Amino acid sequence: MSKTVQLIIDENTYDLPVVEGSENEKAIDISKLRAQTGYVTLDTGYKNTGATTSGITFLDGEKGILRYRGYPIEQLAEKADFLEVCFLLIYGELPSKTEFDLFKDNITKHTLVHEDMRTFLEAYPTKAHPMGILSASLCTLSTFYPESHDANRSKEAVDLTIFRLLAKLPTLAAWAYQNAVGHPVMYPKNKYNYCENFLQMMFAMPAFEYETDPVIVNALNKLLILHADHEQNCSASTVRIVGSSQANLYASISAGVSALWGPLHGGANQAVIEMLETIMNDGGGLKRWIDKAKDKNDSFRLMGFGHRVYKNFDPRAKIIKKAADDVLEKLGIVDPVLDIAKELEEVALNDDYFKSRGLYPNVDFYSGIIYRALGIPTEMFTVMFAMGRLPGWIAQWKEMMEDNQPIGRPRQIYTGHNERDYQNIDKR
Ligand code: ACO
Repeated sequence: MSKTVQLIIDENTYDLPVVEGSENEKAIDISKLRAQTGYVTLDTGYKNTGATTSGITFLDGEKGILRYRGYPIEQLAEKADFLEVCFLLIYGELPSKTEFDLFKDNITKHTLVHEDMRTFLEAYPTKAHPMGILSASLCTLSTFYPESHDANRSKEAVDLTIFRLLAKLPTLAAWAYQNAVGHPVMYPKNKYNYCENFLQMMFAMPAFEYETDPVIVNALNKLLILHADHEQNCSASTVRIVGSSQANLYASISAGVSALWGPLHGGANQAVIEMLETIMNDGGGLKRWIDKAKDKNDSFRLMGFGHRVYKNFDPRAKIIKKAADDVLEKLGIVDPVLDIAKELEEVALNDDYFKSRGLYPNVDFYSGIIYRALGIPTEMFTVMFAMGRLPGWIAQWKEMMEDNQPIGRPRQIYTGHNERDYQNIDKR
C-alpha cells in the first residue's frame, strides 16, 4: 500500500499521498488539496515546493551532490565533451559513437544565422547589454521558423529546433559581443569544434585567424558542462512555465535567458567581478565590505556567496576553483582583482556570519574569475552561462511536454482591499 500522511483541519482528517523519488526524496502530493479542503499551500519563492517530478538532474544540497541523469558532475567535467553532455541531458542517455557523430554533424550544419538577423543586431545601441540582445534574438529566431509554433509538432520538428538552438546560440552570442565593440561579425567555421568555434567567432578578425589554445578550450568545455543543468532553478522553472502555455521552444528559451540575467541568478558572475573591482577601487579594505554584507540595513550582499539549495558547499564551485587555479597558472595571469577574490574568500569562509548561514562561494564566484582570465568581457559572462545552460533548459522543456503537464498557474492568498465602491473624481 502506498504511503500517506494525515492532515488535520479542525475536526477533519485528510489522507495525502506521499511521492518518493529514486534517491528517497519525499513529497506530500497536495494536487487535490484545494478540492478536498478548500485550502491551498503558501510558499513564497517556492522554497519547499516541488513543481514537478523529473528524471534529469539530481542534487543534494546538504551533501553537495550533483548528477546529470545519474552521472556525477565530477566525472562529466573531467572526461566528457560538452556536446556529449547536451545529448545526455536532452535524450536521457550518453550517445553511441554513431549517435554522437550524427548529433555533432547536425549542430555543425546549423551554426549559420539568417543574414536578416544582422539587421536587428545593427539596430541595437552600441552599449546594449548582450543578454538583452541574446534574449531578443532567440525570440526573433522563432519568426524565421514559424513551423516551430505548431503545438502538435513531430519529434523530427522538435529535434530540428533543438539542433538550431544549440548551433545558433554561440553565433548569436559572439555577434552580440562583436556588435557591442563595433567589430565586424565573424562567421562560424565547420572545421572547429563547438568551443573552438565560439572562441574564434569572439576573438578572430578578418585580418587574422584565432589560434585556439587547448588550455582555454578545455576550461570553456568544463565551464559549459558545470552550468548545463541545475534542476528547478529560477530560469529552468521560467522555461517550463512559459512552455506550459504551449509557447514555442524559442520563446520559452528566450524567457529563460531573461530570468538568468538577474544578479541573484546567472547575472551573479558579472556582479562578482564588478563587486571585486569596486572593492579594489575603494582601496581594497575588505572589512568595510564584509560589515556592509552583514548589515541588515544595507542592501549590499557578497555576490557569488550563498545558494538556495547548497548549504555546505557547491560541488561545481569545488571543480571550478581548481580549474581557475590551473588556468591562472598556465596562462601566467597576474591580476589584482583576483588577489582580492582570494582574500575575500579566505575572510568570509572564516567569518561566523557566513559560516552560521551556510554561505560559501558558489559556482559564479569562480566562473567570473576564469572568464576574466580567458579575456571574455564582463558583460558577456552571463551569456556564457546561458550557452552552458541551454541543454538543461531544452531537456526541462522536453520532459514537461512529453509528460503532458498542464499549464503552470499558481494560486495566491489575496491580501488587498475588500469590495469597495468606485468614487468619481472631478476629471475636468
Ligand atoms: N551576502 C550576505 N548575506 C547573505 C548572502 C550574501 N551573499 N546570501 C544570503 N545572505 C544572508 C541573508 O541576509 C539571510 O540572513 P538572515 O538569516 O540573517 O536574514 C540568510 O543569509 C539567508 O539568505 P536568503 O536570502 O534567505 O537565502 P536564499 O536561499 O533566499 O538566497 C541567494 C540565495 C539568492 C543565492 C543569496 O544567497 C544571494 O543573494 N547570493 C548572492 C547572489 C549570488 O551569488 N547568486 C548566485 C546564485 S548561484 C546561481 O544562480 C547559479
